[in-house]
Amino acid sequence: MAASSLRQSVSLLLSILLLILSQKGFCNKYTREDFPSDFVFGAGTSAYQYEGAVAEDGRKPSIWDKFTQEGRAPDKSNGDVTADGYHKYKEDVKLMSDLGLEAYKFSISWSRLLPDGRGAINPKGLEYYNNLINELVKQGIKLHVALYHGDLPQSLQDEYGGWLNTRIVEDFKEYANVCFREFGDRVSHWTTFSQPNIMTIGGYDYGTFAPGRCSYPFGVNCTVGNSTTEPYIVVHNILLTHAQVVKLYKNTYQTNQGGWIGMNVYSLWYYPLSDSLADIEATQRVKDFLMGWILEPLVFGDYPKIMKKNVGSRLPSFTQQQTELVKGSFDFIGLNYYTSSYVTDSPNNSHLVLRDFSKDMFAKTRGFLNETASEGPPTHMLSDPLGLQNMLEYLKNKFANPAIYIEENGYGLGAIKMLHDTDRINYLRDYIGSILNALRNGANVKGYFVWSLVDLFELLAGYKSSYGLYYVDFDDEKRKRVPKLSAHWYSNFIKNIEGDAVGEKSLASQ
Ligand SMILES: *[C@@H]1O[C@H](CO)[C@@H](O)[C@H](O)[C@H]1NC(C)=O
Ligand SMILES: *[C@@H]1O[C@H](CO)[C@@H](O)[C@H](O)[C@H]1NC(C)=O
Ligand SMILES: *[C@@H]1O[C@H](CO)[C@@H](O)[C@H](O)[C@H]1NC(C)=O
Ligand SMILES: *[C@@H]1O[C@H](CO)[C@@H](O)[C@H](O)[C@H]1NC(C)=O
Repeated sequence: MAASSLRQSVSLLLSILLLILSQKGFCNKYTREDFPSDFVFGAGTSAYQYEGAVAEDGRKPSIWDKFTQEGRAPDKSNGDVTADGYHKYKEDVKLMSDLGLEAYKFSISWSRLLPDGRGAINPKGLEYYNNLINELVKQGIKLHVALYHGDLPQSLQDEYGGWLNTRIVEDFKEYANVCFREFGDRVSHWTTFSQPNIMTIGGYDYGTFAPGRCSYPFGVNCTVGNSTTEPYIVVHNILLTHAQVVKLYKNTYQTNQGGWIGMNVYSLWYYPLSDSLADIEATQRVKDFLMGWILEPLVFGDYPKIMKKNVGSRLPSFTQQQTELVKGSFDFIGLNYYTSSYVTDSPNNSHLVLRDFSKDMFAKTRGFLNETASEGPPTHMLSDPLGLQNMLEYLKNKFANPAIYIEENGYGLGAIKMLHDTDRINYLRDYIGSILNALRNGANVKGYFVWSLVDLFELLAGYKSSYGLYYVDFDDEKRKRVPKLSAHWYSNFIKNIEGDAVGEKSLASQ
């Protein structure tokens, strides 16, 4: 009795102490229980950025391997080893389980599963994904799997120009069919494409992403490509491929496997720089070009009016049959969202003969980061949680309230070992709070994934930026993982443990 009442007093004292601590530290204005019980909290990675083992067990190169081999990553690095997920997946699933993750978002490497892009399955590739998937199932972690995160088999790029050629549709369909057939019994959510809008702008307009195509005067150091036309052709072919793959899944697999299928878009929230009508209209144009490019075909069956007007004959058009196929071809929209940007009107662009995607908008976007902070690799990111709430409510109103999973959101810090990442905690806490606000205002948000589970190769910054909940020592052959304070915070939040600044010792390193 005495012992138990002493324990009660001590625990009461502790609770008071924790309350004080949490109010001084990372006071949440909400808990996990404020979210619906079927809302999932997870974290993510992507194949090229996470797996490494690029020339192992039969995997053949993707366009990202070639791009980085040519020294075109921002820090001239590559994903040859990166976080070594190919060998460490089992330990990583253990970390996820320790964290209490309810879901994991990852992507499949097409050229690991089908090394030549089509034809024979690589048995080692099949085994790797089956092992990973089974491990996740064993830990009760839901699977959100992307078929494509920018890493086209190089053989298909060489053979017929990859996404520039409609031949890609059949090859991708065959690859998707293998994935559904082999893994679909255990996958709850399929994302056909991760951020095709920004991947295409990077890969075919600026030349800063694989396959690094662009043309003068746009982009950087281009020798091949056409920034004026190619971005539109590529996204068109991606949309047609997506629609075919969704049809395949719905007709052949969905009834038995019971999963959902959707498409992801990269997004920024945009604010007009001034109150002028010109800037306000320019802001809408930018939203239409960046997000409407993907979402209007999916929801309404055609490109935004303003794109058709400004891009003219360079914008491919949908036949009636294609419109019917593309329209409504999703169960959910995956959203990647990090920050916001200002927009100013830029009518002068209209006089240019040569135009690329950015000039077709007749608008200039200006990073939300201010001039000092935006130079060089990102070491500091301005947080705009309200932007995410704005975005979710905009999607609800403009696109008939689609089911949304936030498939990427996170905070980049420089390549320093910063385990006490309080800025990241503040960022995650504020963004999750903004999602709750949007939910309460009727947005149909169903899940949230922190980018990224562990530090890895960043497409925009190589190893000069890190987003992981776990720090990875890239100088250590074993790629040891160490939980950052944000991992403890996120874990406590998911597990509904109060006093979220404590429990620092509960997560192990691997
Ligand atoms: C472009 O080329 C110049 C000159 O060769 C080089 O210094 C620069 O690093 C290149 N830029 C990129 C982004 O590859
Ligand atoms: C890009 O394509 C357009 C339309 O076919 C053509 O007029 C233009 O010359 C091309 N530009 C380059 C750099 O090849
Ligand atoms: C239009 O843009 C060109 C090229 O960027 C620039 O040289 C010119 O001064 C601009 N004209 C006006 C009226 O802003
Ligand atoms: C701009 O960035 C600097 C350096 O990070 C910061 O001190 C300053 O407050 C920022 N200004 C604005 C207006 O955000």
